[in-house]
Amino acid sequence: NGAALYQQCQGCHQPNGAGIPGVFPPLAGHVPEILAAKGGRTWLIQLLLWGMSGEISVKGRKYNGVMPGYRQLSDAELAALLNHISTQWGNKLPPGQRPFTADEVKAQRAKTLTSAQVHQARKALGLQ
Ligand code: HEM
Repeated sequence: NGAALYQQCQGCHQPNGAGIPGVFPPLAGHVPEILAAKGGRTWLIQLLLWGMSGEISVKGRKYNGVMPGYRQLSDAELAALLNHISTQWGNKLPPGQRPFTADEVKAQRAKTLTSAQVHQARKALGLQ
């Protein structure tokens, strides 16, 4: 399930989702910002599949590390992980958004992006 799969993430993003300021961005209080952005939900699936590298800014702080991709996980596992990070540490799915499904992940997996393309696509979300 999502909590067990999150063990692969918490070495960087921490068990409480707070990340490490300036090194690993927070997921607590931040995943809902991604989901609320236009195109953010689709982009978040792509990020989990293909990873990302390149400078980003989260809540006014810069990060420039490597986020690994997890395409070795199944569609159902990635959906469970996405639902976990969207609902932990006080995070909530934005109004009107349903839980992630395996079919949604499958549709993005067919695109085969690079981590640089995921970084480029993030710019369109308008995150601060
Ligand atoms: C970025 C989730 C594993 C390091 C992110 C972001 C999310 C996320 C949602 C995007 C933040 C944004 O763009 O605003 C996850 C999940 C993981 C995971 C769910 C487990 C499946 C890891 C691991 C590491 C890591 C293991 C360290 C080896 C990073 C870094 C960034 C990032 C450095 C920023 C990348 C950049 O500067 O371009 N992660 N992550 N993540 N993650 Fe992870």
